[in-house]
Amino acid sequence: MSHNLLKGKRGIIFGALDDQSIAWKVAEQCHAEGAQFVLSNAPVALRFGKIQELGEKCNAEVIPADATSIEDLENLITKSMEILGGKIDFVLHAIGMSINVRKKRDYTDIKYDWMQKTFDISAISFHKVMQSLVKLDAINDWGSILGLTYIAAQRTFPDYNEMAESKSLLESFARSFGYHLGIDKKVRVNTLSQSPTMTTAGSGIKGFQEFFNYADKMSPLGNAPAEACANYCVYMFSDLSRFITMQNLYHDGGFSNMGMSPAILDM
Ligand SMILES: NC(=O)c1ccc[n+]([C@@H]2O[C@H](COP(=O)([O-])OP(=O)(O)OC[C@H]3O[C@@H](n4cnc5c(N)ncnc54)[C@H](O)[C@@H]3O)[C@@H](O)[C@H]2O)c1
Repeated sequence: MSHNLLKGKRGIIFGALDDQSIAWKVAEQCHAEGAQFVLSNAPVALRFGKIQELGEKCNAEVIPADATSIEDLENLITKSMEILGGKIDFVLHAIGMSINVRKKRDYTDIKYDWMQKTFDISAISFHKVMQSLVKLDAINDWGSILGLTYIAAQRTFPDYNEMAESKSLLESFARSFGYHLGIDKKVRVNTLSQSPTMTTAGSGIKGFQEFFNYADKMSPLGNAPAEACANYCVYMFSDLSRFITMQNLYHDGGFSNMGMSPAILDM
């Protein structure tokens, strides 16, 4: 049921690849809540993904942008303001990719040029998006910016590899930029730390299915599904969450505060 929580708001949503993507569900929910937005993804994802289908469903234009390219980001932001008819109120950064993970390199045998690429795509791009928004004076006062993260930033999950450090960096950018955007524009910046979710990026991690089951048993509420994550994002983009900033917000069914679960011992 829609409450029109995002009526009149303009956004940019990064990272919808297919209908399993978290960003896909976020876009659907934002559309249902009355938002207007532009969808973006890397040019290669536009060729292989299904984002155009989502664009038609949500009445949203799709603009390609490699999130590591300032030129692409500035083009995206400028065009988004033209299409949407004003400055941006909300941004979802749902971008993650590690070549070391893809190529199944062990954490103790990492290729460093790939690691730098991982950091650039998965974390520094978050800073680049925010800096481009500031430079183009493209974000409205009381806007809301969200990045998606994972608890491997705080605890060790060996198969998450260098994505752990990526997420630490992402979360740190949210705090630091959150300060500057808060002071200058009353804009809030947060990261949302989501449960394991069956997506292209998620299932690229070694042993993901087993880990998904483990986290589900460990969490008193079970793993949070992507649809519930989308609802949380809507809340964070709405005026109901105006004073939440510089936070890492767990959306994980309670996993982050568990020590031991009898359900796991029974497995
Ligand atoms: N799936 C999980 O278990 C899980 C859990 C917590 C957090 N997350 C995070 O959620 C976010 C979204 O991932 P997802 O699970 O929906 O998977 P996904 O594979 O559907 O989304 C990842 C997206 O990143 C995009 N991308 C990669 N390189 C890019 C580039 N250079 N420029 C622009 N976009 C690029 C991909 O095209 C893809 O759309 C990621 O940050 C991921 O780390 C996922």
